[in-house]
Amino acid sequence: MRYKVTFIPGDGIGPEVMSVARSVIEAAGVDVDWDVVMAGERAYIETGSPLPEETIESIRENKVALKGPLTTPIASGYSSVNVALRKIFDLYAIVRPVKSIPGLSCRYPNVNLILIREGTEGLYSSIEHSFGAGKEVAIALRVVTRSTCRRLAHFAFEYARKHRRRKVTLVHKANILKLTCGLMREEFFKVAENYPDLRAEEILVDNMAMQLVLNPEEYDVVLTSNMFGDILSDLAAGLIGTIGVSPSANIGDEYAIFEPTHGTAPQLAGRDMANPVAAVLAGAMLLEHLGEAKAASIIRRAVEDVIKEGKYITFDIAKICGVSPASTSQMGRRLVERTQELMES
Ligand code: NAI
Repeated sequence: MRYKVTFIPGDGIGPEVMSVARSVIEAAGVDVDWDVVMAGERAYIETGSPLPEETIESIRENKVALKGPLTTPIASGYSSVNVALRKIFDLYAIVRPVKSIPGLSCRYPNVNLILIREGTEGLYSSIEHSFGAGKEVAIALRVVTRSTCRRLAHFAFEYARKHRRRKVTLVHKANILKLTCGLMREEFFKVAENYPDLRAEEILVDNMAMQLVLNPEEYDVVLTSNMFGDILSDLAAGLIGTIGVSPSANIGDEYAIFEPTHGTAPQLAGRDMANPVAAVLAGAMLLEHLGEAKAASIIRRAVEDVIKEGKYITFDIAKICGVSPASTSQMGRRLVERTQELMES
């Protein structure tokens, strides 16, 4: 089968890591017609818009996209394109698997959790105001709707059941945010009643930050709101050694956008240094979504093998393994080669 997929190279290290992801997917024998479009800083400079209409149309038509990281200017400038895409395509569940990679001997060799972050609401509702002649006060609205809480809880429990997980942990701060986190909590436990085969538990976000550092192996599927999930998913990526191996999927009922969890890493951009694994594993998640489970599992295996070999690995993991680093393109070439070897075996 031939698939049409929107491809956004992204900013900073995006083009370097995303081209590896694309080559690895092709090496896994999946026939993809890539519709290459722009977003982010490059699009803003070249077209005057960080999210050109052509990009939106491409995703609308193809329903799936593989996207590189995009620059969001700090404090002023254009608003986040990632937030806009999640809203336009109603991508309410952001799924971030965090799994220790064998051979990458980090402090936590047995982490295997799925962090599911709400994608369209909360403090990312983009409703901010400032008041007074000197703008003495500023507020941001934390919007939470019952319908999104309900469908997100259903998504998390269905995901847990489908992937043979045993429990879902809701992370919130309903002792302080009694109405917003309270609403999410209320819907979570209501929905949980339909899943007696799964354990449903809750924990306050501050305690969760500590528990993730102390006992990350205890967690299975973790569900949380937009801002908490943004912070905790970087923390969780740190547990497995580097954000350079952490993929992400933005899922809605009709559309899905796959990307590495990391950002544009401007200090690495253009230096052929960035780890391409997060982008490659995002590609594997895309293939699984398309029903190409075998190709996805071959890609995951190729990633494990190349890291285990330890010969062509980028600086972030080379440092952990105590070996000398390879470049993005060297690691990319080995990933493609190993994928082809596994296809032929
Ligand atoms: P970042 O994820 O780009 O960098 C955080 C740290 O991780 C840095 O030390 C960086 O060198 C390292 N890192 C990131 N990717 C890596 C890779 N593939 N291999 C090795 N090391 C890697 O986050 P930061 O610095 O907070 O943000 C930079 C820009 O990226 C900002 O404009 C931000 O808005 C954007 N961003 C975009 C995201 C997206 O498009 N999904 C997600 C996160 C940030």
